Order: sequence, then C-alpha cells, then structure tokens
Amino acid sequence: MLRYLTAGESHGSALLAILEGCPANLALSEDDINRDLERRQQGYARGERMQIEQDKVEIVSGVRNGKTIGSPIGLRVPNKSTEFFNKPFTQLRPGHADLAGAIKYNQKDVRNILERASARETAAKVAIGAIAKKLMSEFKINTFSKVVQIAGETDENNWKKAIDKTREEGDTLGGIVEVQVTGLPIGLGSHVHWDRRLDGWIAQAVMAIPAVKGVEIGAGFAVSVTPGSQLHDELFFNKGKGFFRKSNNAGGIEGGITNGEPVVVRAAVKPIATLKKPLKSVDLSSKKATEAFVERSDVSAVEPAAVVAEAAVAFELAKAFLEKFGGDSLEDIIASFKAYQSRKS
Ligand SMILES: Cc1cc2nc3c(=O)[nH]c(=O)nc-3n(C[C@H](O)[C@H](O)[C@H](O)COP(=O)(O)O)c2cc1C
Repeated sequence: MLRYLTAGESHGSALLAILEGCPANLALSEDDINRDLERRQQGYARGERMQIEQDKVEIVSGVRNGKTIGSPIGLRVPNKSTEFFNKPFTQLRPGHADLAGAIKYNQKDVRNILERASARETAAKVAIGAIAKKLMSEFKINTFSKVVQIAGETDENNWKKAIDKTREEGDTLGGIVEVQVTGLPIGLGSHVHWDRRLDGWIAQAVMAIPAVKGVEIGAGFAVSVTPGSQLHDELFFNKGKGFFRKSNNAGGIEGGITNGEPVVVRAAVKPIATLKKPLKSVDLSSKKATEAFVERSDVSAVEPAAVVAEAAVAFELAKAFLEKFGGDSLEDIIASFKAYQSRKS
C-alpha cells in the first residue's frame, strides 16, 4: 500500500517525508519534486516568507542512479527561515489550532502548537504528491490544478486588485481551487465498503489541508438544486471511444469508483487567520484581553492551496491505482494495467 508520513516544524531545521510502497524502476529526480515545490511558493498574494524560503528537496533514500529501488523514499526539505523557532508567545490566534492545541497538549508556549499546525508542512505533502504524479504520468494520467476564484472574483486581474486592496487594509481573503485528473481508467476505488470509496479518500485528504473548509466532487453542493434529469451524466457508446458521457457532473466518480471521466475536485479555502490588523483575543497565560499574535503572513493561501490540493488528490489516486494494478516494479504494474485494459474492450 502506498503511504506516507511527514515530520518537521515550520521554523525547525527541515521538513521530512517518507513515502513507502512506491514501485521500483520509476525514474525520479530532485528536479521532478522541486518543480512543484516552486509552484507552491508562487502566487500574487504570497508574503515575505516565500521570498526567503525557495524550497529544494534532498532525496535521502529509495532512489539510486536516478530510479526508485522499491525501498522507502526519504525526503528532506530544509527550512531557511528558522529565526522564530525559539520565540515564545501566548497571545492566542483565532482561526488557528492555538487554543485547542495548547489545552489538548498542555502547553504554556503556543509556539509549540504553531510550529506543527503551520501549513509549512504542506511543502512535504507537495513533495510526496510530485512523486505520485510522476508515477501516474507513466500511465498518461495527469493532474492539474487552478484557482477558480479569490474573494468571489473569477477574473485574475480582478482578484489581483482585490488582493492589493486587502493587503493595504491588513485583511485577508479566501477562495476556491479546483483539481482535475485526466486519463484515469474505469475502476479505481470500490463500492463494496465505505472505507474503500474513492470519493471518501479524496474528501478526507483535501479537507485535511489547512484552511480548507469545504470539498466538492463534480457538481458538489449544486446537486441539491439540480433535477436528476439534468444532473446525471447519460451514457453513450461507440466503437472508437467505448463508453462515454457528454457531461461530468459526477466528477469522474460513481459509487466510489472512477468511471473513466476526469476526476474533478473543488475546495473552499478560508481567508488566512493571521491578520496584519490583529483580531481580538485572550492571552493564554494571563487570561486578559489582548490582540492576536502576528507573525509574517500572506493575504491569501488560495493560490498555493491549489498546488497542495493537487498533491493531495494525486496521492489518493496513485494509492488507488497501485491498489488495483500494484506490483513491486513499474514493469509489473504496466503488465497488469495492459491486461486489464485488454479485458475491458
Ligand atoms: C499553502 C497554505 C499556506 C498557508 N499560509 C498561512 C499563513 O501564512 N498564515 C496563516 O495564518 N495561515 C496560513 N494557512 C492556513 C492555516 O495553516 C490554517 O488556517 C490553520 O492551520 C488552521 O487550520 P484550519 O484552517 O484547517 O482549521 C495556510 C494554508 C495553506 C494551505
């Protein structure tokens, strides 16, 4: 089974990730991963930290002579910005894990919560997602993401204007991102048990991204107001195309299984909780009214969240792909995939 763990604090020495279950003989370089790390750091609404960080991965294990060897892939992404690591604070930040985390883990210094709750961890997730994407690209399965809107503005020029204005006001903005995966075979995931439904895997993975507050697959919440006659994707067949649809309101998944159409996932991203103009709060230690602690922060996390969501969805699909066609080497998987495809037609 494909699985991963991450470790590392926001301003500690580095982020770590271990990917287990990746087949042998997949060509993999640090550049394959760095490309996505760089994309995660771009965005009009990004702040100062992104100019400092410029992430670069070091592949520590699992790759030899440019190819995976079937052993766990260890990744290290050094943090360049470490100067805050030893700076304690107690002014709880609304919208963050600060209050709940400090109480749950019995911490007096809220830094001990911030450091791991921070979305800096998503750099490790993006590194893992890049490997999942590389694996799937061997089968012509491709993953894309985009910003759908920021603050309700669907036009990039308009959302840039909104970001400029909001930055001046010391406020923050949310939005919606979309991930699409094309080239998927019919049959990833399963209808037979709740915890094998692929839509459930995707929803959990995307919802777990910091700041994501809603996840939709296909038509999503619009299913509640669309008549069945207009919602369901009618089936057609011809010899060249095989089974096909003229619409994709299901977002590529029916009954928890890929149906051969692109998987389409949207996520609603909340405005960043650390405002330059601080929110009202309470001090954890004195219990007196205070302003929330402010450290470097961006106007919006929507643009990077698209890249993070892309990684999260790619990982879940690669996991489902290996569950169906898994083998210890890329060649075994190619053979199994080809056998399945010839059976289908
Ligand atoms: C890529 C990315 C970057 C983020 N950057 C920031 C940030 O600079 N400042 C901030 O307050 N929150 C940021 N967030 C959001 C917080 O990490 C998140 O809101 C917080 O941990 C609370 O978790 P929750 O919103 O999921 O409940 C970012 C989220 C993502 C996905």
